Amino acid sequence: RPRVLSGIQPTAGSFHLGNYLGAVRQWVALQESHDAFYMVVDLHAITVPQDPAELRSNTRIAAAQLLAAGLDPERCTLFVQSHVPEHAQLGWVMNCLTGFGEASRMTQFKDKSAKQGADRTSVGLFTYPILQIADILLYQAHQVPVGEDQRQHIELTRDLAERFNSRYGDTFTMPAPYILKETAKIYDLQDPSAKMSKSAASPKGLINLLDEPKVSAKKVKSAVTDTDTVIRYDAENKPGVSNLLTIYSTLTGLSIPELEQKYEGKMYGALKTDLAEVMVDFVTPFRDRTQEYLDDPETLDAILAKGAEKARAVAAETLATTYDRLGFLPAK
Ligand code: TYM
Repeated sequence: RPRVLSGIQPTAGSFHLGNYLGAVRQWVALQESHDAFYMVVDLHAITVPQDPAELRSNTRIAAAQLLAAGLDPERCTLFVQSHVPEHAQLGWVMNCLTGFGEASRMTQFKDKSAKQGADRTSVGLFTYPILQIADILLYQAHQVPVGEDQRQHIELTRDLAERFNSRYGDTFTMPAPYILKETAKIYDLQDPSAKMSKSAASPKGLINLLDEPKVSAKKVKSAVTDTDTVIRYDAENKPGVSNLLTIYSTLTGLSIPELEQKYEGKMYGALKTDLAEVMVDFVTPFRDRTQEYLDDPETLDAILAKGAEKARAVAAETLATTYDRLGFLPAK
């Protein structure tokens, strides 16, 4: 079985619709066909200041949402990044192999640090993608299911795998991004030129899966479209409507042409009202299931402990080989 690995940050509490459609949904599907490793990346979370109590709570909330979305601990390995110390250890090695200029070209860092200002930006935020490289290479992952915004980090991972392998001998599997074209980038409902993101300009454009369903329904109903009236998929000229059609199609399984036909001659209002209902039908059971996992923290923590144990077995082996290749004296 080919291997997949991916991670998600616990920082926002609730996942947003972009996280789910762009990544988590694929994680659920891939656990059937792949040897799958998925983690909550708390080490990545502390690249910006976190309140300790909130971080702990959000880490459980993230894990509960992953289970609610359909991850099955019998079919995949679900764990918390900090439970596997090899991530930080291989992260250091990768830091030493990455060029400063190369790391400086990461656009996510440039965007985030520009917003915060240099004095408030941690060195950890700068080396964030390098820890992500370690995450992927530790598990010898063949594919990494993510949204489009992570593509550059996976390209860098490939560069580093290639560099290490050619310098020290074949050690790491070359990973490939696994990005579904249709859902690679879900857009902000108020600004369809921007990706949906927890740092959105207006909270109205962001669907949080754990919000009250009626809040999400309202956001769908007030989504920005255009002054035209035709319901047609055209990402370039009709980004708002196209985004709604993508979301609708993915949540229901109806194809875009089927939806275009269903709404032929109808107004945007009809599309939005129906999609609002689809959204409520999706988030309501999702929230309930998440809450069930949160109501039983012992079971949740036991799932994560078992996941960490399975993950560690793989990670430790890769790290041992890496240390050996580098010429570190064995501890014995
Ligand atoms: P994070 O936590 O920001 O996002 C989790 C996943 O959601 C995807 N995503 C989107 N997809 C489509 N449309 C959107 N609007 C949208 N917004 C977010 C992201 O692409 C991501 O797949 N660096 C990663 C976490 C990470 C990781 C890893 C991923 C750490 N180590 C190793 C893969 C492999 C991140 O911050 O994701």
